[in-house]
Amino acid sequence: MLQDKEKQVISKKRVVDHGEVLTARREVDAMLDLVKQETERIESRFLEPACGTGNFLIVILERKLTVIERKLAQTEKKLKKSEKRIGWKAPFYEPDSLIALSSIYGIDILQDSIDAAKSSLLTYYIASYQRIVGYEPKEELINTAKYILDKNILLGDAINTQDKVTIPGILGLDQIIFTEWGRIGNDFKRREFRFDAMPLDGTEAQIDKQPKQMDLFGEPKKPTHRVLRNDSGKDIFKPMPVKEYPLTHYLKIAVKGENNYA
Ligand SMILES: C[S@@+](CC[C@H](N)C(=O)[O-])C[C@H]1O[C@@H](n2cnc3c(N)ncnc32)[C@H](O)[C@@H]1O
Repeated sequence: MLQDKEKQVISKKRVVDHGEVLTARREVDAMLDLVKQETERIESRFLEPACGTGNFLIVILERKLTVIERKLAQTEKKLKKSEKRIGWKAPFYEPDSLIALSSIYGIDILQDSIDAAKSSLLTYYIASYQRIVGYEPKEELINTAKYILDKNILLGDAINTQDKVTIPGILGLDQIIFTEWGRIGNDFKRREFRFDAMPLDGTEAQIDKQPKQMDLFGEPKKPTHRVLRNDSGKDIFKPMPVKEYPLTHYLKIAVKGENNYA
């Protein structure tokens, strides 16, 4: 029998209006097992364009954090007793776990689902930190985690462009901006891309197909792609970031916020 928190239907109206039937844990696990290796690579990026309350996203986070926990257990075996002072895990766990979190993306058309998805990811992130590192995460780390979730789990319409959205005020797919997070040591690199410029087949570029260009927030059109020609004479369209931020220490991401771009 399904647990209460596994309720798959919140209301009949939501099913009729938005096709909202949430996936149960057993099915989530079975589907994620189809790409098991990827779910266990901490930097592997996942986007769920109708994420609901985050049933898939939370299991992806769970799997990635388990990998980091296992890595720490291996490291622990190699350390001398004197090196295993309280807190030794934090400098390893913190940036790795943030990369795991920052590689998880979602869009949904319902605000309360987005709020629920962000809240359960954050709660799970904090509880895992306490369990694995052994004490509560500091405020700056929680703020970075919240900031990442605000950038990655977005309210929007993943099917329709702005002129066709069915809920007034919601972002159409041509207005959605996603952040790519990368890491060099303890510094994070952040670049923003238009959702409609990103190839969704896991590659970095679209081959042989000129992507559509649209106005973004009424701004003059900027090229969304760089065109490269490969040795067979095919054009490769590589998405260009709309914004880039300087390398920033992972604990300062939320404080620096938006005013940190070149
Ligand atoms: C069948 S539910 C699946 C939810 C979640 N993926 C899961 O498996 O638990 C479909 C979800 O799509 C969302 N949705 C419907 N139309 C959408 C759209 N145009 N853009 C983004 N999300 C949409 C609904 O709000 C709902 O959360």
